[in-house]
Formats: sequence, C-alpha cells, structure tokens
Amino acid sequence: MKESIIDRTWSMLRKRKPDWSLDQPFYVEQDVFDLEMKLFFSKHWLFAAMTCEISEPGDWVRVDIGRESVVIVRKKDGEVAAYHNTCRHRGSRICQEERGHAGRLVCPYHQWTYGLDGQLIAARLMGDDFSKDEFGLIPVAVGVAGGYIFVNFSSSPADFEPLKRDVEPYLLPHGLDDAKVAYTQNLVEDANWKLVIENNRECYHCVGAHPELMHIITEFDDPNDPRIKPEYKELVKRKGADWDRLGIPHAHTHGSEVYRAVRLPFASGRVSMTADGRPACTKLLGNLTDPDLGSVRLLSLPNSWNHIQADHAVTFRVLPISPEKTLVTTKWLVHKDAQEGVDYDLERLTEIWASTNAQDRKLAENNQLGIRGSAYRPGPYSGLIEGGTRDFVRWYANEMQAALAPLLQINAEHGAAA
Ligand code: FES
Ligand code: FE
Repeated sequence: MKESIIDRTWSMLRKRKPDWSLDQPFYVEQDVFDLEMKLFFSKHWLFAAMTCEISEPGDWVRVDIGRESVVIVRKKDGEVAAYHNTCRHRGSRICQEERGHAGRLVCPYHQWTYGLDGQLIAARLMGDDFSKDEFGLIPVAVGVAGGYIFVNFSSSPADFEPLKRDVEPYLLPHGLDDAKVAYTQNLVEDANWKLVIENNRECYHCVGAHPELMHIITEFDDPNDPRIKPEYKELVKRKGADWDRLGIPHAHTHGSEVYRAVRLPFASGRVSMTADGRPACTKLLGNLTDPDLGSVRLLSLPNSWNHIQADHAVTFRVLPISPEKTLVTTKWLVHKDAQEGVDYDLERLTEIWASTNAQDRKLAENNQLGIRGSAYRPGPYSGLIEGGTRDFVRWYANEMQAALAPLLQINAEHGAAA
C-alpha cells in the first residue's frame, strides 16, 4: 500500500535529528505544504493587519493566506471583525481589491449583499421561501492587541488573552491605533515560508549580510546573553532604569514559545533604525515626548516580527503562497498626523529595512535553491547563535506531530477496516 502523506510526514518528523534543519519535502513539496496549511496555519493566531488600516467603520482589508482569503472590517459599532472572503451563494470571492471602504460588502457575481456584521441583507430573485438568516458570511476569529490584528481560522481557537495580556503593555505607549502606514513593501520571495522565518530567527548571518543594520542593533537580542559586550550591558541597565522611572515596560517576556516582546536600546548614541541613528520622523508616535525608547522587538510566530520605536514602527508579516513562494509584507508606520516631506522623508524612513529585506530575500532564495538540489541533507543549527531558529523549528515539528497523531490513528483504523 502506498504510504500516505500523513504517514510519510509523521515518519520524517519522528526520524528528524533534534535541532537539525528539516528534510527536503518540508521546503518544496505541495503535499506537505497543504498538510501544514490545514494542520498548522489553520490553528495559530496569525498577524494580519493593523487597526489603523481600518480606522473608520466600513474600512476593510483583504488578507490571503495560502488558499484562504479573509476580509477584516471595522464594523459600525467600532469593533473589528473578520470573515471568510467567500460568498455564501456559490462561493465567489467577494472582495477583490486589497482594501476598501463600504457600508456593505457586495459579491460581484450575483450581487448578494452582506452587512458589516456579516449578515446577508439582500439576495435578488431567490424566491419567497429563501431565508437570508441562514447565509451570513462565515466568521474568522479575531484578536486585537495594541494596534495589531490577528486572525485564527480554527473554530475553537486557542485563547488570545495571554498574548494580549503579555504583549499589549509594550505596545500601548506607542499609540499604534493612532498611527498611519507611511509605506508598504510587498516582496514575493521564491522561498518556503519556514526559510523566511528561520532566517529571521538567527543573526548568525547578520555580520556577513547586514552591514547597515549592524551599525544599529546587536546580534544578540536577549539582554542577559553573556556574549553582549560590557558597554552595551551597561547601556541596557541604564536605559532600563530610565524606562522603569517612566513606567515603560522593557524586560523580556517569558512564558510562551509563540510570542515574545523585549525593549532594547540601540547601539550607543542612536535612537532609531535610520542610517544616522537619528529619528526618521520628528512627530513621535502616540503622546511620546522622549525619542530614545529603543525598540520593542515583538515576535509572534508563526508569521511576524516587529520593531516599534518612539518615532516609527516597522511591522513584518509573512504569508505562505505555495511551497516555494512567500509574501513578505513590511509596513512603516508613523503618527497619523505626521506629514511626508515635513515630519519625515520616505527614503530615510525606509532605507535600513529596505536594504536589509533585500539582503534577507537573497539569503532565503539562495537557501531554497540549495535545498532543491539532490545534495541537500538536513544540517545542525548552532547551539551558540541559532537558538531562535532551533526553537522555531522544534516548535513547528512538535506542533505538526501533535496534529498528525490523531490522523495516524484514523488512518490505521481505516486500513484495518478496509
Ligand atoms: Fe456571490 Fe452568486 S456567488 S452572489
Ligand atoms: Fe537577516
């Protein structure tokens, strides 16, 4: 009997050397990709958009994740809701643009019309016995924390509260609800989504690949890391004391392998991720008056990392498209009243991450090309500097195994019955 993709994936994970990279099929095969979309991406909280992108009732954004498409709307009561972007008539996509503003969502096929609460409010020529109540849009779970919108496709999603509770205090001082997106960069990278995250989770490559970024940040993002230089340790201590006095959270969050936040100062004398280290935007975020708040490094697996500073924030969202294609969206946010050309210059605002993203893209795509070849074998992560990557892959492998286990059982029973 042909081994099913479930058995094969399970067996690859079971035989995996702990803390080594994954077998080739995890990076290139459609069957494995489909399985992980179904078992893994469908159950985790995914960073989708920012609240400031849908600040007014009727504003909406569309987010595509694998084969799924979601519309996130600001309802009339000001709440954020999300729906599958699939018409309840015959399944057409409803919203085709990336974003819009409307009092109702109208399917382009036969004009079934939905309210911002997802209810079907009009459907022409469906007869007298047709009940609109039964054909509302299918909701997607939404979690909102400090200006970030997360979605979860599960019908019984994991509790969002721990993430909100732990992470929101770091974000609130930056007033991201009252920000605006100054610039969006969409990169479609020819690499598996896990390679994009694996690359992000280590700074082993930083010294060789990111000359601009390394002027600003340290390659070690744990203030307790013994390899941090004494001068930087001293700076962390001094800035930490300042932030304590201001009531600004900075210590490393612990307690979850899925998300974490920490506020770290930049290299001495620098306050923002710009080429000269000076703020990119003269109007600070929220009601902040001190430009030197370092950056909140917010990680939310499986698809986001972020740098939130006093003058601007940079958000990163990773969305799988296919086994070897991934959309990486970077957004630069400034205060909503900041004016381009007056308070900030787009070139200055974006230059560090535009060049870092281009460098990372090359690394991930090159990694993908090498993995495609017959010589690829999984290799070991450095215990000294690739801990973040190791943890991510370990988490992914454990989650996949846990999701596959009940299916193996069903498969076995099916086989025995046949
Ligand atoms: Fe949407 Fe027919 S498929 S109205
Ligand atoms: Fe990098």
